[in-house]
Amino acid sequence: MCGIIGYIGQKQTTPILIDGLKKLEYRGYDSAGICVLDKGSLKVIKKKGKIAELDSELKEHNLSGTIGIAHTRWATHGEPNEKNAHPHLDCSGQIAIVHNGIIENHHGLRQLLVKEGHSIVSDTDSEIVAHLIEKFYNGDLAKATVQALQLIDGAYGLAVMCQAEKKIIVARRGSPLIIGIGDKEMFVASDVPAILAHTKKIIYLSDDELAIITEDNYTIKNLEGKKIDKEIHEIKWSVAELEKKGFKHFMLKEIFEQPEAIANTLRGRINDKEIKLSINFDITKIKRIVITACGTSWHSALIGKYLLEDLALMPTEVDYASEFRYRNPILGPDDLMIVISQSGETADTLAALREAKGKGAKTLGIVNVVGSTITREVDSGIYLHVGPEIGVASTKAFSSQVVALLLLAFYIRQEKGLAIDKKIIKELNNLPEKIKEALSQAEAVKVIAEKFKSSKNFLYLGRGINFPVALEGALKLKEISYIHAEGYPAAEIKHGPIALIDANMPVVFLATKNNLSPKIISNMAEVKARSGIIIAVVNEPDKEIKKLADYIIEVSITSPELSPVVNVIPLQLLAYYIADMKGLDVDKPRNLAKSVTVE
Ligand code: M6R
Repeated sequence: MCGIIGYIGQKQTTPILIDGLKKLEYRGYDSAGICVLDKGSLKVIKKKGKIAELDSELKEHNLSGTIGIAHTRWATHGEPNEKNAHPHLDCSGQIAIVHNGIIENHHGLRQLLVKEGHSIVSDTDSEIVAHLIEKFYNGDLAKATVQALQLIDGAYGLAVMCQAEKKIIVARRGSPLIIGIGDKEMFVASDVPAILAHTKKIIYLSDDELAIITEDNYTIKNLEGKKIDKEIHEIKWSVAELEKKGFKHFMLKEIFEQPEAIANTLRGRINDKEIKLSINFDITKIKRIVITACGTSWHSALIGKYLLEDLALMPTEVDYASEFRYRNPILGPDDLMIVISQSGETADTLAALREAKGKGAKTLGIVNVVGSTITREVDSGIYLHVGPEIGVASTKAFSSQVVALLLLAFYIRQEKGLAIDKKIIKELNNLPEKIKEALSQAEAVKVIAEKFKSSKNFLYLGRGINFPVALEGALKLKEISYIHAEGYPAAEIKHGPIALIDANMPVVFLATKNNLSPKIISNMAEVKARSGIIIAVVNEPDKEIKKLADYIIEVSITSPELSPVVNVIPLQLLAYYIADMKGLDVDKPRNLAKSVTVE
């Protein structure tokens, strides 16, 4: 989704801004632009398409200056073109803004501004903000920004600069913004990677806060003008973690990082005797769990339902965050709302969390990005500790979310005084090894990818705890390869999707051993009887499966509760290799954003 970077200091700002924008590319965007205070006036250069195009356009202009703001835009209001790209200027060309989020009352404000004589040139909601600030500007940019924000409904992460004052103003409501503190230089950004090469000292702005930033100082206030002291966080990620380390794509690197990632999620939380989580309320008092999330995180939530019911004997419901927030969910102090999010910034998940808090439920976040908004608003949390996930298609976050849910389920079981099967705990500790073994199937998966890279459709089928894995496999394939794919509970195909099956339909079965194995084999037979092509993920291939399956991917044996973490590996690889063989932009698939900060 849209990205922001800003710089104020003593160095040339253009290379810093362009480098920062490149670091934000993974968030997804369709145009980009930059504004620099160059010899006393604001110069704006914008381009549709990739940052490389903006970069080569900039070579024609030779911008020079030490203050600037820049933006990658992911279109919401108005098509992706140069006119709609940010930064936007006011009528005088003396105030520039970049904005993430959505101004909900932009129609009314546009009418008002046009009536007052403003000429608004783009189709965006964002440009309105530049004109509102112009309307109020009287020599004090911060004051005019506050006045403008008072008229705005909706979400914003905003950076503003002007010709007359050597400062950048930033403000936040609902869309992340950070301040980076350097040595006689300051940075602003929507996301840590944009500025990590320059500083690890970060301040996270909260909603309804505004900061006035000069090259060697910052002041943070709320919208009523009261000064606020904020904690300075030290970022633990290294710049090296943001590199591809010899892999062709971030996604591939992140798939292969999973053994280490899972070891990090487990570290310090499990030993022979106990599961240790820091949960600051009495979890045994909880009567019901509701989990909300979006996309891949919603798939891990579905697996969590199986685990929490089975291992923790806890009634559990799962909801799409976007649906939950607009129902009238019945929740109270005996309920626990778990929100799962890699980024910790997904707008719908955050809104669902706030809805649950408002109703008095306890809240717990399963989040990767340290310091993200969700982590700051939940009562308790389990960090994934898998390092930055840059590929838009989530991989290592998914497997570690499932591991975090396993830990939670065992933890609740332990706190309830129920016996824990030592064998599963041992296997949990062995998961990184099992994932390594699954990754060793990469060559076999590549052969299958080559065979089916031109398929138009795919079906993914699983049962029980592996049904959500089928959903995840299908989502991975469609989002990066643009092949239509559906995940289904295997028994459900008889109620409709079986009509699609013919000799051109690859059907991926999650068929590792569990109590439903005979049923899955029957479902395979139903597909085979209609000439479907069967690709089976197995760990103990029996005679029947060998007869029915056209292709077999063998993963290592683990207990059924842990099997989703292992079984998803070949599905991630299959999606990756197909997309790569089709020559697609695997890490930045079309129309998608890494962090979805608008609803
Ligand atoms: O950061 P989150 O986990 O909250 O993101 C949720 C979804 O947007 C995300 O999982 C999305 O579905 C991914 N592109 C899936 O690969």
